[in-house]
Amino acid sequence: MTAACRVAFTGESHPAVAVPARARLFAHLTAVNSPLLFGCRTGVCGTCLVRVAATSAPLAPPSPEEREVLDLFAPDDPAARLACQLELTCDVTLDRHPEAPT
Ligand code: FES
Repeated sequence: MTAACRVAFTGESHPAVAVPARARLFAHLTAVNSPLLFGCRTGVCGTCLVRVAATSAPLAPPSPEEREVLDLFAPDDPAARLACQLELTCDVTLDRHPEAPT
């Protein structure tokens, strides 16, 4: 049995979504079941910029490529991440980042 991670959203009416551990979020989160938007899905456009509000365990740090994009869109927010690049191994609570491009 594959472990699941719970993805919750703050300040939104969407209920939490269970996704398989290490799955790419864009394969499981849609405009219907989450407030998040995805564009390129390769960590370039910043559309999926989120703020990690809480985690049940530490997340792996951003790759150098993800860090480069984070420094462009949210340079002063250590909680900012690209949802399309997260490889979850724990439960998280996410917010769509106010600096996310639309
Ligand atoms: S969807 Fe483009 S950076 Fe995540």
